[in-house]
Amino acid sequence: MAVTIQKLRAWKEEKRAIVTLTAWDWAIARLLDQAGVDVILVGDSLAMVALGHPNTLPVTLEEMLHHTAAVRRGVKRGLVVCDLPFLSYQESPQIAIHSAGRALKEAGAQAVKVEGGYPAMVATVAQLTAIGIPVMGHVGLTPQSVHRLSYKQQGVTDQEEKRIYQEAIALGEAGAFAIVLEHIPDSLAARITARLPIPTIGIGAGPHCDGQVLVTADLLGLSPHPPPFAKSYVNLRQVITQAVEDFSTDVRSGKFIL
Ligand code: KIV
Repeated sequence: MAVTIQKLRAWKEEKRAIVTLTAWDWAIARLLDQAGVDVILVGDSLAMVALGHPNTLPVTLEEMLHHTAAVRRGVKRGLVVCDLPFLSYQESPQIAIHSAGRALKEAGAQAVKVEGGYPAMVATVAQLTAIGIPVMGHVGLTPQSVHRLSYKQQGVTDQEEKRIYQEAIALGEAGAFAIVLEHIPDSLAARITARLPIPTIGIGAGPHCDGQVLVTADLLGLSPHPPPFAKSYVNLRQVITQAVEDFSTDVRSGKFIL
């Protein structure tokens, strides 16, 4: 049965953890979906893990739509969420509606994700949800603000902690169906998770969230510089390099025969 935003909320109530991973193409998406991943996020981290950019800022809406459409073709069960890239939604709610609408209409996404919980973004989330577009929020370390925040843990001072808590609550009240909590203290993530009726999906936010997300390239050991809170379950860089070296040796020695 396909995953819906209603099901995610029910799973929070049942304390059934929500498994979320990122995908950037058909092949990866298909494997994740067949392995039972609940939410498949076409994260703008694809700028770094698939396109070789130094951060998430350069990826364009057109590129995100292209990758989301490929992912969508590989997914039957999971909920496909398209991350709206930098400057495709911040300027005005109208621009956000247009970008999010394209993600659903042209790329087949079932929801979008936006970063930040400041008042103007909360208003944008309210408008998107009012017209029927499911929105996933994202607070704490928001990588589109890397030049202001750097990649350090957020919510460490009392003032920051209070702000992030209030942002998460406001996004929930504006109609977000779930919220990513990135790189914040476990205790803050636990407080937000207990207070919100919608699921929290943590990344570097401790064990008390309703679900966990990883960038799949980090999980697979494909990223040369994963963040300190990422866990790899296999070293595919090593596996791929070894396979390519073995093939090259066979070709050069004349041993490769089909
Ligand atoms: O872009 C992304 O991959 C993300 C996850 C880290 C949540 O936003």
